[in-house]
Amino acid sequence: MAGVFATVSMLLLLLLAFSATASVAVATTGAAGSSCTRSCGNVSIPYPFGVETGCYHTGGFNLACITRGHGPPKLFLGDGTVQVLEISAEHSTVRINSTSEVPFDDSGRTTSRAWGLGIPESGPYFLSESTNILKAIGCNIQVSILGGVNKSLLVSSCSAICPVLTPDSGFMGNGSCTGIGCCQVSIVLGYPRYTIQTKWLSEFQGLPLGAVYISDRSFDYTSDMMFGIGPKAFPATLDWIINNSTCPANETIAPECRSAHSYCQDSSSAVHEGYLCRCSKGYEGNPYVTGGCQDIDECKNSSKSYPCYGDCKNTPGSYVCLCHNGFKGNASVPNGCQGRLTDKSGVFSFGVLLIELLTRKQPFLYRSNGDDDSLVSHFIKLLAQGNIFDIIDPQVMEEEAGEVIEIATLASPCTKLRGED
Ligand SMILES: *[C@@H]1O[C@H](CO)[C@@H](O)[C@H](O)[C@H]1NC(C)=O
Ligand SMILES: *[C@@H]1O[C@H](CO)[C@@H](O)[C@H](O)[C@H]1NC(C)=O
Ligand SMILES: *[C@@H]1O[C@H](CO)[C@@H](O)[C@H](O)[C@H]1NC(C)=O
Ligand SMILES: *[C@@H]1O[C@H](CO)[C@@H](O)[C@H](O)[C@H]1NC(C)=O
Ligand SMILES: *[C@@H]1O[C@H](CO)[C@@H](O)[C@H](O)[C@H]1NC(C)=O
Ligand SMILES: *[C@@H]1O[C@H](CO)[C@@H](O)[C@H](O)[C@H]1NC(C)=O
Ligand SMILES: *[C@@H]1O[C@H](CO)[C@@H](O)[C@H](O)[C@H]1NC(C)=O
Ligand SMILES: *[C@@H]1O[C@H](CO)[C@@H](O)[C@H](O)[C@H]1NC(C)=O
Ligand SMILES: *[C@@H]1O[C@H](CO)[C@@H](O)[C@H](O)[C@H]1NC(C)=O
Repeated sequence: MAGVFATVSMLLLLLLAFSATASVAVATTGAAGSSCTRSCGNVSIPYPFGVETGCYHTGGFNLACITRGHGPPKLFLGDGTVQVLEISAEHSTVRINSTSEVPFDDSGRTTSRAWGLGIPESGPYFLSESTNILKAIGCNIQVSILGGVNKSLLVSSCSAICPVLTPDSGFMGNGSCTGIGCCQVSIVLGYPRYTIQTKWLSEFQGLPLGAVYISDRSFDYTSDMMFGIGPKAFPATLDWIINNSTCPANETIAPECRSAHSYCQDSSSAVHEGYLCRCSKGYEGNPYVTGGCQDIDECKNSSKSYPCYGDCKNTPGSYVCLCHNGFKGNASVPNGCQGRLTDKSGVFSFGVLLIELLTRKQPFLYRSNGDDDSLVSHFIKLLAQGNIFDIIDPQVMEEEAGEVIEIATLASPCTKLRGED
C-alpha cells in the first residue's frame, strides 16, 4: 500500500509545483501612443504617468528620466527633485527616495527643516497614511513633524534619550528602536509637505549628530546613523489622486477610470479630498487605461485568498470550486470533499481510484460511458482469470507486489455497485 500512496503524494506534489510556477499574464497597456517612454532604468512608467507631452494625464503626472554620470538613468517627479523608485497604477501609489535630515545644529537650538521639497503643495501627491513612519536617531532630542496650513498642525512626535553618556555602557541602545538612542512613530495624516522640527532636551554638549528619516520601511538603527554618516535616504510611499474633487454620483462614469471593470473611489484621507480609480473585485491591472483591468485567474494562484481543494474553474471576475467527480462537500476547505463510502456511487469511484492507482491508466475513457471494453471491466476480467499482473503498472509491482492482489480484490466488488445506482 505504501508504494501506492507514495505515488499519489508524488502526483499531488507535481501538481502543486506546476500551479505554483504557472505565471499570471501581465496586462501590457500602451496608453497614449507608442512613442511614449514606458520605463526609465528599471522603473516602469504606467499611464497616467509619462515623460513626453501627450503621454501623461494633466495635473502633476509628468516625469523626467535623467542620466547623470555613468549610472543608469533615474526617474523624477515633474521638476526633477524627488526621485521615483516605483509606480503602481493599480494601488495609486509611488515610492520615492526619501532623503534624511541631520538634526544637528551648532547652537543647540530648535531647528526646522522642510520635507517634501519639490512635491507641489496642491497635490496630487500625499504621504501615504498607512505605511510611513518618522524615525529619529539621536541623543536627547525631540523630533516633531508639522503639516497643514502654514505647517502649524502637529502630526507626530517622538523623543530619543541616551541616559548614560559613556559609549562603553551602551548608551545608544542596541539597534531596536525603543526610545533609547532611537524613536519611531506612525505618520497618520497625509500631507504633501512637512516641517521637521528638532528640539534638544538637554544642554548641548557634543552629542552625536543623529539622523531623521521618513520612510515606509522598518530598519534597525546603526552607529553610522547615530554619527550622521548612515544611509542618506530610505524609500517612502506617496498616495496620489487622479482628480481633486469627489467621485461623480455614478461611480462607474468617472472619466479617468477608463478600463472596463473599474470604478471610482474617494480618497480615504482625513486631510485631503480627491478620488482614484480601482479595478473591480476579481480584476487586476491599470484602471486608468482601456482594457487595463484584467480578469484574475484565481485557479492559477493557489493562494490563501483563493482557496480551492477541488476542481477549480475560473470565471470572469470570480471562480468556482467544486469537489472532484464522485466526492461531495465544501471544496474551499482542506479535506472538505468527502468520498461518501456508504453511497453507492462513492464506493464505485473508490474502486475506480484503486484500479487507476494500480494500473496508472487514464480514467476518462470508462467514467462517462458503460463501454464493456473499459478499463474497469478489463481489469475485473483479468482478475477473475488470475492474470491480473498483465495490467498492473511495473513500478507498482516492483514496490508492493505482495499487496497488489489484496487491493485488486478489494477494488473489484466496489466497481460492481455502479450498475445498481
Ligand atoms: C497570488 O495572489 C497573491 C494575493 O492575491 C498575490 O500577492 C500574488 O502575486 C499572486 N501570485 C501570482 C503568481 O499571481
Ligand atoms: C531596481 O534596481 C535596484 C538596484 O539594482 C533594486 O534595488 C530595485 O529593487 C529595482 N527596482 C525594481 C522595481 O525592480
Ligand atoms: C536615493 O538617494 C540617495 C541620496 O541622494 C542616493 O545616494 C541613492 O543612490 C538613491 N537611491 C537610489 C535607488 O537611486
Ligand atoms: C498662514 O500664514 C499667513 C501669512 O503669514 C497668515 O496670514 C495666515 O493667517 C496663516 N494661517 C493660519 C491658519 O495660521
Ligand atoms: C535589544 O534589547 C531588548 C531589551 O533587552 C531585547 O528585547 C532585544 O532583543 C535586543 N535586540 C537586539 C537586536 O539585541
Ligand atoms: C483642483 O485641481 C484644479 C485643477 O488642477 C485646481 O485648479 C484646483 O485649485 C484644485 N483644487 C483644490 C482644492 O486643490
Ligand atoms: C451608471 O452608469 C452606467 C454606465 O453608463 C449605467 O449602466 C448605470 O445604469 C448607471 N447607474 C446609475 C445608478 O445611474
Ligand atoms: C474631476 O472630476 C470631475 C467629475 O468627474 C470632472 O468634471 C472634472 O473635469 C475633473 N477635473 C479635472 C481637473 O480633470
Ligand atoms: C465553504 O467553506 C468556506 C470557508 O470556511 C465558507 O466561507 C463557505 O461559505 C463554505 N461554503 C459552503 C457552500 O458551505
